[in-house]
Amino acid sequence: MQIRNATPEDAAAACDVLRQSIAELCLEDHRNDPAILQRWLGNKTPEIVESWIRQPGNSVLLAVDDGAVLAVGAVTDAGEISLNYVSPTARFRGVSRALLRALEDRARERGGTVSTLTSTSTARRFYLSAGYAESGAPTGCFGTTGYPMSKALTL
Ligand SMILES: CC(C)(COP(=O)(O)OP(=O)(O)OC[C@H]1O[C@@H](n2cnc3c(N)ncnc32)[C@H](O)[C@@H]1OP(=O)(O)O)[C@@H](O)C(=O)NCCC(=O)NCCS
Repeated sequence: MQIRNATPEDAAAACDVLRQSIAELCLEDHRNDPAILQRWLGNKTPEIVESWIRQPGNSVLLAVDDGAVLAVGAVTDAGEISLNYVSPTARFRGVSRALLRALEDRARERGGTVSTLTSTSTARRFYLSAGYAESGAPTGCFGTTGYPMSKALTL
């Protein structure tokens, strides 16, 4: 497995992984509620994903293996992680852990001192075990509950 920067040509494949990960892995969050899924998936289109890839001050990283996208993550230079989604076919093989480390490294390289994110219920345990702590009251997120978390990016 390799972790690399996404290019605009990766937008469609990255978008597929985002949509599958949300639909198939985040059941605890959306409970197959069509209204929630519609809101959550609404901005997961190839065009919008491409705009995130091109956005200055934002890094979209992919975990890839033999040409296949295994996971998609994104982080701003200030350390805000806005995406971290693994393909259902690659779950629990250390892919998200490696991608999270790469996202943190990227923010640190760009001068970020704190990594922040809003966790799904599905990934909450994963972030706690990766050193994140709850940093505020739960918030609404596409009709689901989001859990604000942060972690200092020490050198
Ligand atoms: C939970 C999730 C993020 C873990 O990522 P992964 O690539 O499958 O797993 P990894 O092998 O990298 O990480 C393993 C960690 O996942 C967690 N984990 C392991 N089994 C788990 C399970 N059955 N349920 C929930 N978390 C589990 C543990 O924290 C584990 O760490 P440990 O081995 O130190 O205990 C992923 O499976 C998932 O469901 N993603 C859905 C998308 C999502 O919610 N993304 C977050 C957006 S904020």
